[in-house]
Amino acid sequence: MRKRIAVFASGNGTNLQALIDYLDGHDINSEIAMVFSDKQGSKALKRAKKHGIKTYSFSPGEYGSRKSYDEKILSLLKEEKIDLVVLAGYMLIVGKDIVEEFRNRVINIHPALLPCFKGMHAIEDAFNKGVKITGVTVHFVDEDMDNGPIIAQSPVFIDDHDSIETLEEKIHSVEHKLYPKVVELFCYGRLRVVGGKVRLAD
Ligand code: GRF
Repeated sequence: MRKRIAVFASGNGTNLQALIDYLDGHDINSEIAMVFSDKQGSKALKRAKKHGIKTYSFSPGEYGSRKSYDEKILSLLKEEKIDLVVLAGYMLIVGKDIVEEFRNRVINIHPALLPCFKGMHAIEDAFNKGVKITGVTVHFVDEDMDNGPIIAQSPVFIDDHDSIETLEEKIHSVEHKLYPKVVELFCYGRLRVVGGKVRLAD
């Protein structure tokens, strides 16, 4: 069965774009069935529409409470028979019920080597700390922020002549290569979580 992917994105959507482009060039037994954004005017939604992908957009504010917002998302994921949720710059915490129902089927990309530099300003925080190596992490999502089982990591070296801007560019270009590869591994059923660690199945 082809895997049905939902991408959640709040902003620019360059990781969404990288995935769209990868799927255009590689048959990895999957398709992006929907893109969801909590931000109606987001560039991510525009990218999805341009590629003829079904989009949904609503915010917690429209649902009165976070609980009913999460319930709406969960029923949408079931309705669309989603196998994998790919968070790509989704700026809200995924609700506990969704995490539970989709355990080890929601992945996130974080612009640092977790567990270092969790949170919204990971690139800046790593740069300001003066670390020499930072990077990108893809992980399964659990109930805590930037915390679930780590699937893959790629290092990015910080040189003396780097600025936050050049570091951001380096991180994003690594993200755009790593994320589609992880999606591919998932879609081929290669990711196993054993004792809180991710192992690659043959
Ligand atoms: C990426 O840096 C990702 O690591 C973080 O949010 C950013 C999203 O960028 N979670 P984009 O919207 O995919 O361009």
